[in-house]
Amino acid sequence: MILIDGRATAKQIKLEIIEEIKQITNKGGAPPHLAVVLVGNNSSSETYVTNKIKICKEVGVQCTLIHYENSVTESKLLATVNDLNKDENIDGFIIQLPLPKHISEQKIIESISYKKDVDGFHPINVGRMVIGLPCFVPATPKGIFELLKRYKIETIGKHCVILGRSNIVGKPIANLLAQKTYPGNCTLTICHNKTINIKKHCLKADIIVSAIGVPEFLKGDMVKYGAVVIDVGITRVYSMKNKSGFQLKGDVLFEEVAQKCSYISPVPGGVGPMTIISLIQNTLLARKKVIY
Ligand code: GUN
Repeated sequence: MILIDGRATAKQIKLEIIEEIKQITNKGGAPPHLAVVLVGNNSSSETYVTNKIKICKEVGVQCTLIHYENSVTESKLLATVNDLNKDENIDGFIIQLPLPKHISEQKIIESISYKKDVDGFHPINVGRMVIGLPCFVPATPKGIFELLKRYKIETIGKHCVILGRSNIVGKPIANLLAQKTYPGNCTLTICHNKTINIKKHCLKADIIVSAIGVPEFLKGDMVKYGAVVIDVGITRVYSMKNKSGFQLKGDVLFEEVAQKCSYISPVPGGVGPMTIISLIQNTLLARKKVIY
């Protein structure tokens, strides 16, 4: 069994990004510039944003934080998006989600220029991804693809079972794995909370990508020998093992499943560390104006 090390891979990509940014700035170009819009004080959002800003600094991406109170109006936020769309100094930006209930997330997402939508949430980017045009791929699927590529995991003709059909993981992963380019050419099954007999489907899978957020859902007897298992779940559960009083658990019962796998990504240290670095990769693509 080979452990897919997301921490080491993210570290390697970080070095590659640093090198690429140096090449831009050595020629007198401006470094990539990401803006992050944060609304309110949701503690998870604050932690994500702090981590995004930290990694930007580490790799030489300029990062501007725009922080509004929870009471900010939808029209004010739309005006900010409009300004960012027009600002030539900003290569890409994200609106950290979730937004307060009085603001329509969909309306805000759709107001972002798809050329600066480094989250890849705008319907134009989603549509372009589906038909295989240049686009920003959302961070988690992008990170998973990078892991598949860097570990040279064979995907052609493989049967891939995806657990979960969210817009930011399950659906994009399914679309990408169906593309004719590597890592793709898979035969796909998408399972969700209405699927009958998930175990039956999982047992046929060469590759399982699990993104359902149910801790330790995937057990050893649900996986065939030699399968590749990618665990996207990250659920905080109470635990006496750690001083913090909680522990991060994936969707996979690692001790059982790892024994049967050819490759497995752990939680923590698998897909998680890849997500912020994928956002930074997208910011670099935005800087290079690769998405047009
Ligand atoms: N909230 C949780 N994950 C994300 C993400 O990837 N992007 C944004 N904008 N908000 C999030």
